Amino acid sequence: MLFIYASMCGIIGYVGNKSAVQILLDGLTRLEYRGYDSAGIATIDNGQFRVLRKVGRVENLINAANQRNIGGYIGIGHTRWATHGVVSEKNAHPHCSVHGLFSIVHNGVIENYESTKEFLLSRGFTFESETDSEVLANLIEYHFNKEQDSENKFLKSVQKALFHVRGTYGLAVLCEDYPGEMIVARKSSPILLGIGSGEMFVASDASAIVQHTRDIVYLNDREIARLTPLDFSITTLHNENVDVVKCELDWHVEDANREGYEHYMLKEIFEQPRALENAMRGRFSDDLSTAKFGGLRMTTRELRQVDRLLFCACGTAWIACLVAEYLIEKYARIPVEVEYASEFRYRNSPLDKNTLVFVISQSGETLDTMAALQEAKRKGFRTLAITNVVGSTIARESDGGIYQHSGPEIGVASTKAFTAQICIAAMLALYLGRMRDMSFEEGILFVKALDDLPGIIERVLAQSEKIEKIAEKYAQCDDMLFLGRQAMFPIALEGALKLKEISYMHSEGYPAAEMKHGPIALISEKCPCFFLATQGHILAKNIANIQEVRSRHARVIAVAAEGSELVDKFVDDLILVPDVHPALQPIVATIPVQLFAYYIAKFRGCDIDKPRNLAKSVTVE
Ligand code: G6P
Repeated sequence: MLFIYASMCGIIGYVGNKSAVQILLDGLTRLEYRGYDSAGIATIDNGQFRVLRKVGRVENLINAANQRNIGGYIGIGHTRWATHGVVSEKNAHPHCSVHGLFSIVHNGVIENYESTKEFLLSRGFTFESETDSEVLANLIEYHFNKEQDSENKFLKSVQKALFHVRGTYGLAVLCEDYPGEMIVARKSSPILLGIGSGEMFVASDASAIVQHTRDIVYLNDREIARLTPLDFSITTLHNENVDVVKCELDWHVEDANREGYEHYMLKEIFEQPRALENAMRGRFSDDLSTAKFGGLRMTTRELRQVDRLLFCACGTAWIACLVAEYLIEKYARIPVEVEYASEFRYRNSPLDKNTLVFVISQSGETLDTMAALQEAKRKGFRTLAITNVVGSTIARESDGGIYQHSGPEIGVASTKAFTAQICIAAMLALYLGRMRDMSFEEGILFVKALDDLPGIIERVLAQSEKIEKIAEKYAQCDDMLFLGRQAMFPIALEGALKLKEISYMHSEGYPAAEMKHGPIALISEKCPCFFLATQGHILAKNIANIQEVRSRHARVIAVAAEGSELVDKFVDDLILVPDVHPALQPIVATIPVQLFAYYIAKFRGCDIDKPRNLAKSVTVE
């Protein structure tokens, strides 16, 4: 199947009593982390469309908009992350139908767009771009032309077009003949409505509109909504009534600002003590010997029946799953498997009947993770989700779950969401462990260690200047290896992932001893090694590996626990972190690798919050 120029992007819409342009541009600026290949807006100004699109950052669009006087009290906007094909103004959204009657912003993929396009071509429609979204705009116009005049004509023509299409969409549509109305719909691509007073907002995620309203309604799949300044109505695509559930956002606009930090990533790294506190708040038993979770919707008896856990996720969240595997197997003695969500969905792996399936997703919208969840549900497994975004698709589709409460994460490279996910995994290990063989005393010590964690993280963050100086020494390398044993192996993976994501330096994560079976061939004075060596009981093993790479002229940076000062003799740069409960060492060791990657990227002059080719939330396969 050929899908050219599908998009996975940010959407904003406004209808109300204020000038739309500023609201759209502000919203797009906040959404830019979803995609930054091109951006555009369309308003209806005195009964006529005004459309502006620009390749590149939203800033380019803002500069262009400032030179024009674009009016209108209704509008839609879009920021695009191209999946296939070139980035160009023609392929930027909004797309208009051929006679300029409709303008559309669309997130997702129309699978049957080629046959639909042929059909429309045969009826005299022409196309400016090669996008599937423009086909949809024209299909709406085709149905509009056939529809009887009525109050619902706009809505009906969008509905008919959507009956016809296969694929996924989150979309917002304007019609020049209905200048006070917007139609939005969703299937597998998030859309939410923001309810204001005398005004309505639409967005693909709440950060775009949180400065205007915190009253939100999430659309479900195959729902369509009509918005006017004063009102909104939602039905299914087949006109069935829908129970509208309003929710209030649990975070504020300040949470989505940079607050003086040079980058969101740095701000989010420094927010980790607070994010960890939020992940733990209210989640300990009264006797402080175990954790508790309100949203699992499973009794202790049911949880005791679980023989096996499967964790699925993508990217950094997948690495959090690996840490969960180490922690849950160690403390709860339940076998855990970890799969990439994109692999699980097509692999048909045999699962034990008493398997409980967990997915982890910061955004709650990653398409592959969602598909893995659906596959597990189809097979009849109970599914639980660890997500950060309240009301996200994955949160709603799973049987139960645990919210991270990390606050909005804007930097494309995940930081605070990752450590919160590991913290929740540690609490799960404690909770499931206490149902099995973990003693009351061990539970008390575990809870105490968790409680101390935010303060410990503050102490590691206080070393940021030292880490910056170390980073400067290595910033111009081409390659780097991150090495660690056991639960530090995933942190080595995360260190390598962070570094390549934001600094574009080639880096790999490996189990420290496994390095001898391949990566050792890369080692030279030009390929430093970053060791994560906080575990006392295997410190000697790590030192042996350090010596192996040193004898091949590698420079070595190491993170070790206070009390292991002897490591200093063997390495070029040592970062000492507090010695904590073994379950929490992965979180503590994450902070130096995040800061190290951040400063390296800064010394290399990279665009840290918007690394090339990446997107915060990947809603395509
Ligand atoms: C993208 C982001 C990563 C993130 C991954 C999974 O690749 O760039 O930072 O870890 O998606 O995202 P999720 O929202 O499901 O955790």
